[in-house]
Amino acid sequence: MQTQKIILGISGGIAAYKTPELVRRLKRRGAEVQVVMTRSAGEFVTPTTLQAVSGKPVRSNLWDADAEAAMGHIELARWADLVLIAPATAEIMSRLAAGGAPDLLTTLCLATEAPVVMAPAMNHVMWSNPAVQENRQKLERRGVRILGPAVGDQACGESGPGRMLEPDDIVAAVMKPIAVATAKPGSMDGKTVMITAGPTREAIDSVRYLSNRSSGKMGYALAAAARDAGANVILVSGPVSLTTPDGVTRIDIESAKELFAAVHDNLEGVQIFIGAAAVADYHAASASAGKIKKTAGEMSLDLVKTPDILASVARLSDRPFTVGFAAETENLREYALGKLEKKNLNMIVANLVGPGLGFETDRNAVDVYWRDGEMSFPLTDKEELASALVELIASNYEQTLHAETQTELPVIAVRD
Ligand SMILES: Cc1cc2nc3c(=O)[nH]c(=O)nc-3n(C[C@H](O)[C@H](O)[C@H](O)COP(=O)(O)O)c2cc1C
Repeated sequence: MQTQKIILGISGGIAAYKTPELVRRLKRRGAEVQVVMTRSAGEFVTPTTLQAVSGKPVRSNLWDADAEAAMGHIELARWADLVLIAPATAEIMSRLAAGGAPDLLTTLCLATEAPVVMAPAMNHVMWSNPAVQENRQKLERRGVRILGPAVGDQACGESGPGRMLEPDDIVAAVMKPIAVATAKPGSMDGKTVMITAGPTREAIDSVRYLSNRSSGKMGYALAAAARDAGANVILVSGPVSLTTPDGVTRIDIESAKELFAAVHDNLEGVQIFIGAAAVADYHAASASAGKIKKTAGEMSLDLVKTPDILASVARLSDRPFTVGFAAETENLREYALGKLEKKNLNMIVANLVGPGLGFETDRNAVDVYWRDGEMSFPLTDKEELASALVELIASNYEQTLHAETQTELPVIAVRD
């Protein structure tokens, strides 16, 4: 899956206040976004906000000696797959229509071979002005794609054509559709992948246990998808009523302790580890050998923490590329990013769980986060979703390997 590299040019219109949200939505769809602002744009939205949401320092000055020594304006123009100007003011349309290059954004537009797309935003009288319309036509004739503007209420209190399209509409117009069911045969060729799946059972006594609602469907679908992509798959499975996918090696476990042992005993040669099992966080301090008898009064159970399997794998010095899952009932993004950071994972797949969501269902919607990217997958069959996730994991794994060999810095040790 190719990341789309987008230069987001922001010019000085009131609609610039919507651009941090636009950046977030582009990134959620897997784009890498470099913001370039005009001087006037800084009157409406701060570079600090845009740097925080894009994850990259904002560029605005053509005469920035440091930036020119690093990724200069020509390099930036070559880097982009797309230059999107939103909002595009009447002024920037005029500068570009005239072929001028007095600032960084216009210079980039002249120097790039990437498509240029503009989302104009201005007062409706300005938009209807023949000079602006002439510039629009000139730009369109040269291949610039103009999105909108929309008709509606304007910041000036009037109504008419001139509103910038909403961020979602701009994203839909410029991004390739989300790739679902795109696992290419061969994208995990020859790799050994370990996947954990299903719930664990923590014994209370000889007949009772603590467990959760995980069906194991997502982990099993991932195992089949990784196998289809060419991987040798080891599936470490909690108690589920699912058939083992053909060609996959399955190891059965019951408790979190057994899962921990099975994972570490079989990790040799594993390059990618995907922890999709819903591992119990606690087990009974002491499980009774026989059946605990009912008594007249209340009873309480002492619980102690189970080993953190994901963190233990991610901590290894020659760890595999480690992907975790986070099932949450609220604050999904915040918890998932916290877990990514705290457990030092390469990627995390987060989904909301609750009635009809996540566990025990055949469909799932997830958000995937990694250090410099994120991607949302809409509600999809778990098989299709697994296929898309395998493709995304394979491409991130390759990029991590590539980054390591390029920089020769010990960024993350990955088995190969
Ligand atoms: C409060 C305010 C709001 C403005 N909103 C717009 C706008 O929505 N569209 C537009 O074309 N110009 C707008 N302008 C005018 C531009 O900021 C001005 O033409 C500026 O020179 C544009 O420079 P730039 O294209 O380099 O960013 C606004 C100006 C002010 C003071």
